[in-house]
Amino acid sequence: MNQPRRVEHQQTDKGSVPVYTTAVVEQPWADYRAEDHATWGTLYQRQRALLVGRASDEFLRAQDEMGMTPHAIPRFGQLNEVLGAATGWTLIGVEGLLPELDFFDHLANRRFPVTWWIRRPDQIDYIAEPDLFHDLFGHVPLLMNPLFADYMQAYGRGGVKAHGIGPEALVNLTRLYWYTVEFGLIDTPDGLRIYGSGIVSSKGESLYSLESPAPNRIGFDLQRVMRTRYRIDTYQKTYFVIDSFAQLIAATEPDFTPIYARLAQREAFPAGKVLESDKVYTRGTGEGWAMDADV
Ligand code: PHE
Ligand code: FE
Repeated sequence: MNQPRRVEHQQTDKGSVPVYTTAVVEQPWADYRAEDHATWGTLYQRQRALLVGRASDEFLRAQDEMGMTPHAIPRFGQLNEVLGAATGWTLIGVEGLLPELDFFDHLANRRFPVTWWIRRPDQIDYIAEPDLFHDLFGHVPLLMNPLFADYMQAYGRGGVKAHGIGPEALVNLTRLYWYTVEFGLIDTPDGLRIYGSGIVSSKGESLYSLESPAPNRIGFDLQRVMRTRYRIDTYQKTYFVIDSFAQLIAATEPDFTPIYARLAQREAFPAGKVLESDKVYTRGTGEGWAMDADV
């Protein structure tokens, strides 16, 4: 397997982030080694076992419908047939993280960039940057869900717009993505469930986000989320809980332009802060929290 080609580092609110070539690449499926397929299989089986009863039904059902299996790394082409028919999204192969505007433009056109390479066996439990397992196992299933499929496209369009407004608007929007798409929880009649990709692709955080007494679990509120800093190198101090995807879509429907303007006058909250106005599901004990600054 070739190494991804890093072209530069970009300073963002997430720190210094490697930005790769923006090229769309054909998934080099024939070049995956037995070891790569085995890494996929190990992670797939481990997470599926863990996620039944922990991930949202929508996520698990969508993953089944896509026909992903532990036997081999899926072919993007095959997934695209199912995904295209379901919601019109297309997966495209990329080397890794894209510059923000390229990423937004793909989403706005219902194209989801998936990193083609998979982590090494010694990175099974943790890898700092998104790889194929995170992107494909974590993000792609919910694109089968009509509501979530629309949310992701609306986010892409909103990203293009926020990019034109300025860096502070982008910070607000990125926090929304972080606390929903990457680290979101959803309240169901059976209890809290995971839908965030950053959680479902991590064994440790799948357990921690639902079962640890340490983090806060707080009801989703758009502006509250947009003002909340987050962690990129540890588990989250706070998870935001939606009632339904319909709630998320309704809350994000309005034009954000005046909201960005208002939030520019306000301070951001530390990742672990609980406010008077919060709907608190669980107040975290804070045990084990890193004391250095949130991003
Ligand atoms: N409504 C947002 C805007 O006007 C766009 C958006 C939709 C952002 C959905 C995120 C999610 O900018
Ligand atoms: Fe991600």
